[in-house]
Amino acid sequence: MSFENLHKETEKLLTAEVDKIVTQFEIGPEKLDQLTAHFIEAMEKGLNPDLSKDNSRGLPMIPTYVTGKPNGLEQGILMAADLGGSHFRVCSVKLNGDHTFTIEQLKSKIPEELLDDDNVTSEELFSFLARRTRAFIKKFHPEVFANAGKPNQESLKMGFTFSYPVDQKSLSHGTLIRWTKVFKIKDTIGKDVVELFQQQLDDHGMDMIRIVALTNDTVGTFLTHCYQTGDHETMTGEISEPVIGCIFGTGTNGCYMEKIENIKKLPEDTRNKLLSEGKTHMVINTEWGSFDNECKVLPTTKYDIDIDQKLSSNPGFHLFEKRVSGMFLGEILRNVLVDLHSRNLILTQYRTHDQLPHRLKTPFQLSTEVLSRIEIDDSSNLRETELSFLQSLRLPTSLNERKNIQRLVRVISRRSAYLAAAPIAAILIKTGSLHQRYHGEVEIGADGYLIEYYPGYRSMLRHALALSPIGTDGERKTHLKLSKDGSTTGAALCALVASTA
Ligand code: BGC
Repeated sequence: MSFENLHKETEKLLTAEVDKIVTQFEIGPEKLDQLTAHFIEAMEKGLNPDLSKDNSRGLPMIPTYVTGKPNGLEQGILMAADLGGSHFRVCSVKLNGDHTFTIEQLKSKIPEELLDDDNVTSEELFSFLARRTRAFIKKFHPEVFANAGKPNQESLKMGFTFSYPVDQKSLSHGTLIRWTKVFKIKDTIGKDVVELFQQQLDDHGMDMIRIVALTNDTVGTFLTHCYQTGDHETMTGEISEPVIGCIFGTGTNGCYMEKIENIKKLPEDTRNKLLSEGKTHMVINTEWGSFDNECKVLPTTKYDIDIDQKLSSNPGFHLFEKRVSGMFLGEILRNVLVDLHSRNLILTQYRTHDQLPHRLKTPFQLSTEVLSRIEIDDSSNLRETELSFLQSLRLPTSLNERKNIQRLVRVISRRSAYLAAAPIAAILIKTGSLHQRYHGEVEIGADGYLIEYYPGYRSMLRHALALSPIGTDGERKTHLKLSKDGSTTGAALCALVASTA
């Protein structure tokens, strides 16, 4: 066969193989029905220990001890600290009492050595957080140190947003169940993260700061969304109600308000006490990243299995997150490309795996940002894709390869957005929110770079909601609102609640 014919044949084979992969990533209405029904079942099991013998790999459904929604009239100045995927933020938040707030903040990148090294200790991580807090106080509130030790010095109330699964036993205490996303520090597991942070604040001369509330980023986002909007009228004159807070960023997760009487995992005396105080609902942090860890209904390709088993720090857990969140979309594409290369279907100029550019061989080096550029590339000959691959991976590509890469990108992101619709539909159904009022309009406060920046992500998610059991009617009544940076302000709202409780 001539070289030209051989080349054409390889092109055809690549396209045919990508056709097959595309099919494996597709999700239709039937799958959405299954996923939604299974999510509802998983929520019930997670709330009620009697329904499942061992829920250790099930949906965590964590009670947060947040029993009310802010209405926007809250006032006060509070501190907030927020440990997310790659950054740590310390802030002082002024809640103005009119749905608005002002924030002063110091944002720091988590140093690589705290992420990569298996030998890092909790003390090193929390000492870093304390040192950044100190730098913040020095810069924005030097009077705090000037007044240190003086009689009557008031303590500063801090809310701590910690965006990892914790077993929460009260509004201000919780032990880490497991790390997700980028951290691996073993000795933090099972420890109270508030105590670890408070200890370091004290040791670094900041005992005037008291951490009074621990919250998850989804809960923070939800509370901030409630604070900013409250129950408010939509353009059609309907009252629309905040129902879910969620994140689609490096990780993914969602929270909602559940009836206290349904939260059977709460000790009975706690449940009765709350009910006798007139509390009816509590925010539940679902930790939906861990939905269907048993893979009963989750669509699974060999790439998902490899990423979970060989490349992630928590194999067997957070399998939904590994198909949905921003940390994994680029990694899925990278795995597909390496596989196609091993079968001589793509990038054939590199004869062996070893010859591939280093960045293509290195896990998590293909970022979701690159995918977002390819997703909407309509330049001639997919020039934008060509440049993105050259810049990010030092990888030259042919036009046919780029066409197939674009198809892969689009099907990976669409699967993520379609999967994202399932827990949302499930929560709306379980809570009956779409039928609570005459027209049952609901709001979802969402944050994270997929929702904010990934081209078409929100439309794909909406489209999937329409295909899900809530149908086009439910989708129309669901308002997906960006609640930017809500996670940190939410910690301040929690701290306010805790200090006035
Ligand atoms: C964590 C959640 C968090 C989500 C979004 C997940 O990996 O388990 O606690 O809310 O990421 O940041």
